[in-house]
Amino acid sequence: MTEMKRTDYCGVLSSDHINQQVVLMGWVQRRRDHGGLIFVDLRDRSGIIQVIFNPAEDQASFRAAEAIRNEWVLAVTGVVHKRPSGTENVKMTTGEVEVYASKLVVLNKAKTPPFYIEDGVDVDENIRLKYRYLDLRRPEMQNTLILRHRAAKAVRDFLDQQQFLEIETPVLTKSTPEGARDYLVPSRLNPAGFYALPQSPQIFKQLLMLAGMERYFQIVRCFRDEDLRADRQPEFTQIDLEMSFVDLEDVLKLTEEMVAYLYQTVQGTAIPLPFARMSYHEAMARFGSDKPDTRFGMELKDISALATACKFKVFNTVVKNGGVVKGIKAPGCGNFSRKDIDALTAYVAIYQAKGLAYFIITEDGVKSPIAKFFNSEEINAILAKFNAQPGDLLLFVADMPGVTAAALGALRLHLAQCINLIPKDTLHFLWVTDFPLLDYDPEQQRYVAMHHPFTAPLDEDIDLLSKEPGKARAKAYDLVLNGVEIGGGSIRIHTRELQEAMFKTIGLNADEVREKFGFMLDAFEYGAPPHGGVALGFDRLIMLLADKESIRDVIAFPKTASATCLMTKAPGVVDPKQLQELHIKSEVSKKGGEAQRGKGAEG
Ligand code: AMO
Ligand code: AMP
Repeated sequence: MTEMKRTDYCGVLSSDHINQQVVLMGWVQRRRDHGGLIFVDLRDRSGIIQVIFNPAEDQASFRAAEAIRNEWVLAVTGVVHKRPSGTENVKMTTGEVEVYASKLVVLNKAKTPPFYIEDGVDVDENIRLKYRYLDLRRPEMQNTLILRHRAAKAVRDFLDQQQFLEIETPVLTKSTPEGARDYLVPSRLNPAGFYALPQSPQIFKQLLMLAGMERYFQIVRCFRDEDLRADRQPEFTQIDLEMSFVDLEDVLKLTEEMVAYLYQTVQGTAIPLPFARMSYHEAMARFGSDKPDTRFGMELKDISALATACKFKVFNTVVKNGGVVKGIKAPGCGNFSRKDIDALTAYVAIYQAKGLAYFIITEDGVKSPIAKFFNSEEINAILAKFNAQPGDLLLFVADMPGVTAAALGALRLHLAQCINLIPKDTLHFLWVTDFPLLDYDPEQQRYVAMHHPFTAPLDEDIDLLSKEPGKARAKAYDLVLNGVEIGGGSIRIHTRELQEAMFKTIGLNADEVREKFGFMLDAFEYGAPPHGGVALGFDRLIMLLADKESIRDVIAFPKTASATCLMTKAPGVVDPKQLQELHIKSEVSKKGGEAQRGKGAEG
C-alpha cells in the first residue's frame, strides 16, 4: 500500500473543510476530461466528492489520472476548495466544494463492471446476485445494510436495558418432527447420525428459562428448507426472545415497546402504542387472511344467507354442503372488461376457487350472467350489504370456508394493488390473537400444531384437547405490519403432563416422543417456570423499514428462489472422498445435479 494515511471520508467534506489538506481513499465513480483538467468523482461508503487533477498543480498526478477508469481504487491528497460560483451541485451533499489533487496513488485497477454502480439501475437481479460485491457498492444497498446494522444495535440496546441476556444456541442440533423441512448435516464421527440446522432456537430458549436465565434474546440465523418467495429465505434472521414468569400481555407489551424503540431510534418515527388487536377468527372472516393488510377496506362480506334463497344452483348447493358465499367490492371497477374478469377468475383459481361470479353495478341495474337467478329484492339486499354504487364491481366466490377465504383474501390484495388502493407511508401494526391450537392435516390424517407443539392452549380450552381438539384456541399471537407477518410467538406449555397430552393429540407415539423430545419432558420435571416469548422476522422488518419489495434486498448475500447462491454457486458438488468420509452415497450423477440448479432469483 501507500505511505499515505486517509484523513477524511469523501462524503463528509463541506465548506467547513475549505483550505484543509485531506487524504481521501475510494473508488472512481466517474472521470471526465475537460480542456486540460480531469474531474474525478471519488466514492467511499460516506458518499462522493469531486476531485480535480490540474497539470499546473502536479504534472505526475495529472498524467496518472488520464489512465484511470471507473471503479479503480485511488488514494488522493489534495486541498478542499469552494467551488467557483455557478458550478455548485445541489444534488451532491458535498456539492459546495471540490478537492484540488496534488498527489495520486492508484491502489488498484478494475475491470469494467458488468453494470454501472449507481442507484436505481435496471439490472437483472441474477446479474446483481452473481456480482453481489459490486451490487453492494451501490449507495442504496449500503444504506440498507447501515439501516440493518442500526436496527440490530437498537434492539440489543433496548433488550439490554430490559435485563435480557444475549445467549448463543447451537447451530448443529437435532432434527425434530413438526415444522418445516430441516436442513441436515451428516456427522463424520457418528456414521448414522445427522445434525439438523435449527429452524429456530425454540427448544433451547425454553430450556434457558428452565435454566433460570429469566430473559433471553438472540439475533439469530434460522434455517428452513421450504419453498421460497419474496419474503422467505432458506436462512433468515430472527430477533428471538423468551421471558419467564410472564403472561401474554407482558410479552405483547415488551414487543411493542421494542418495535417502537427501534422505529424511534433508526427512523425518528413515533409509533403509537398499544398496537391494534384482532382475533384469528375475525381476521379470516373480514379479510380472508391471518395476516390482514388493514391499510384499506374492501372487506369480505358473507352473503351465504342470501345465497341459500336465490336460484343460482352453484351458490345454494355450496351453502347446503357446508360452504359459504362471500364477496368483495372493487370500487370503481365496473368498467372491467370480460377479459379483465377472466384474468381475475384465473387468479382465484390458483387458490382452488372453482369460479368467480360478478355483478357490474350500472345506473340501469346489475349486469351479470347470473343476475337472472336473483329477484330484485335479493339484488338490493346484496347491493346494500356492500354499499355498492353504480360503477362498482362485486366479485363472489362460493366454496368451502377455507377456499373462499384464501381466494378472496388474495384477490382483495391483488385488486387493491392493481387499482392503487393501498395507502403508502402508513404503518398498520396488528396483533392477531386467539389462533386455533391445531390444524387438521388431511394428508397425514392427524392434527398438527398451528404454531408449534410447545404452545399452550387457552386455560378454558385445555379440556377440549381430549374432546374436540380442533376447537381449542392457543395462547399464540402473530405480529402483522401492513399485511406482512413480521413475528409470532406464544405462551408455552410448562408442565410435563400437558406437554405429553399435546404430543399425544398431534399423534406422536410414545416412542417417538421419548426419542425426539425426551430431554425436554425430563427437563419439565425439574421445576419449569411459566414462560413465553416471541420471534420477529428481522429481514422482513428491515424490508418494511427500508421500503423494499423483497427480503433479498436487505440481506448482504441472499439466495435465489431455488435456494442457490449465484455468486459462490452453492450448493456445490463435493469430492467423492468427502462423501465417503461422511458415509454418504449420492444417487444423483454429477451432471444431473448440476443441470437441476441455476434457477433465477424470481419468487
Ligand atoms: P415463526 O415460525 O412464526 O416462529 O417465525 C417467526 C418469524 O420469522 C419470520 N420468518 C421468516 N422470515 C424469512 N424467511 C423465512 N423462511 C421465514 N420463516 C419465518 C416471520 C415469522 O413471523 N420459534 C417461534 C417463535 C416463538 O414461538 O417464540 C418461531 O420461529 O416473520
Ligand atoms: P356457470 O354456471 O359455471 O356458467 O357459472 C356462472 C358464473 O358463476 C361464472 O361467472 C362462474 O365463474 C361463476 N361460478 C361458478 N362456480 C362458482 C363458484 N364456486 N363461486 C363463485 N362463482 C362461481
